[in-house]
Amino acid sequence: MKKFILTIAGAGSTYTPGIVKSLLLNKEQFKLEELRLYDIDGERQGKVAVIVKKVVEEFDPEVKVTLTTEPEEAFKDVDFVFAQMRVGGYKMRELDEKIPLKYDVVGQETCGPGGMAYGLRTIFPMIELIDLVEKYAKRTHWIVNYSNPAAIVAEAVKRLRPRARIMNICDMPVGTMRNIAAILGCSREDLTVEYFGLNHYGWFTKIMVKGEDRTAEVREHARKHGLLLEDMSKIDVQHSEPSWVKTYGNIKYMVDMFPEYIPNPYMQYYLLPDHIVAHMNKERTRANEVMEGREKKIFDAVDKFNTTGEMDLSAFYVGVHGQFIVEVAMSLVFDLRKRFLVIVENNGAVKNLPDDAMVEIPAYITSNGPEAIRVGEIPTFYKGLIEQQLACEKLVVDAALENSYEKALQAFTMNRTVRSAFQAKQILDDLIEANKAYWPELK
Ligand code: NAD
Ligand code: G6P
Ligand code: MN
Repeated sequence: MKKFILTIAGAGSTYTPGIVKSLLLNKEQFKLEELRLYDIDGERQGKVAVIVKKVVEEFDPEVKVTLTTEPEEAFKDVDFVFAQMRVGGYKMRELDEKIPLKYDVVGQETCGPGGMAYGLRTIFPMIELIDLVEKYAKRTHWIVNYSNPAAIVAEAVKRLRPRARIMNICDMPVGTMRNIAAILGCSREDLTVEYFGLNHYGWFTKIMVKGEDRTAEVREHARKHGLLLEDMSKIDVQHSEPSWVKTYGNIKYMVDMFPEYIPNPYMQYYLLPDHIVAHMNKERTRANEVMEGREKKIFDAVDKFNTTGEMDLSAFYVGVHGQFIVEVAMSLVFDLRKRFLVIVENNGAVKNLPDDAMVEIPAYITSNGPEAIRVGEIPTFYKGLIEQQLACEKLVVDAALENSYEKALQAFTMNRTVRSAFQAKQILDDLIEANKAYWPELK
């Protein structure tokens, strides 16, 4: 049986233990010879690795685990790289969220000004990572990338490294499908959905269960309850936290007004920004919840292990996030042609959107990469919204490549979450100050 070498880039991530467990649960089919952990922050990675090693010990002790901060050691002859880096860490995420909120504008990790700020930090480190992998990895390697903001990352990579062997993915569509499946009383694998949009900006247009159209049932549920279930903790720990419960609940307002399609939960930031800001705690945003929750839980588990030798493996969970990246990788390597919602170049799949748009749509994942499935024409309302957001994302990439303040200001002004050019300028200027160590200079 072929064995694979796989590197996790950004291995100090809070998601690493869950992803590793998910990989090892598939060892009968997708056997690892070596798991390499790579991060620019050796200390953080070292802590997370304490849990990773415990997981390996428990689920597949044959796998060799290597920790490194050296690119050559990390990527030499690898088959796979799973990328999940957060440029600037949670400290910068917190500023991305809090600075726009000072102006009563949505403060969010990947949406609105915060998402654009995160994009300006991530474009060049992502290109650097691709180049390092290209230099050292096997010619047949694949990078499966979760690093956010995925829409801006995908646009930049398409322009700067069009031949990169990278699949950009997001767990939100598949996470939403998990809720939909629970609502319909079936498993996620039984669903076939139709969907179009950009990353964190799209809609489910049809939901089929084993050939039967069940969209109307989902719509009815969503109109009353959003995509909430009575007990969210049954499906996922992360998404049973208060802010995610609010997010899944807000879907009811959007489906009530626009019952045609079921929106990606992230549409709340663009369609209901006033409501979102009014119900946000400006002093304590999601970054604080994550630092005091998911991150603390992991570090506490490591501390406890170091002092008592006992490990609480419930400090992390696999969830749909860990499952999905492994499912995509397996479909790539074994040519399974599984149908997943992923980020691909449009090339006519959505007939009335530009060919070069990086869209999130269904595709068959083959050993040659994704084969996009044709969506056809989309209605004016959605087309207009998407074109505005797409222009915004393209302008962020332009701003980074051209060191252009004006393009950045255009992007911020165009975003639906921002009310005026004056406001865009104030937020942009504050973010420039906060991101001095990370952004390309904007002139
Ligand atoms: P985290 O801060 O816990 O982990 C990120 C790690 O990346 C850190 O250890 C950091 O040191 C490292 N890093 C930063 N810059 C790097 C670089 N240039 N090279 C290598 N490593 C680098 O963050 P997290 O909350 O666990 O999230 C990890 C990433 O996954 C983020 O980008 C997040 O937005 C993304 N994410 C994406 C999805 C999706 O749907 N696409 C879902 C969940 C998380
Ligand atoms: C979903 C999205 C990711 C995002 C994450 C944030 O999974 O698809 O793109 O990074 O949520 O979750 P968090 O728990 O860190 O707020
Ligand atoms: Mn996502």
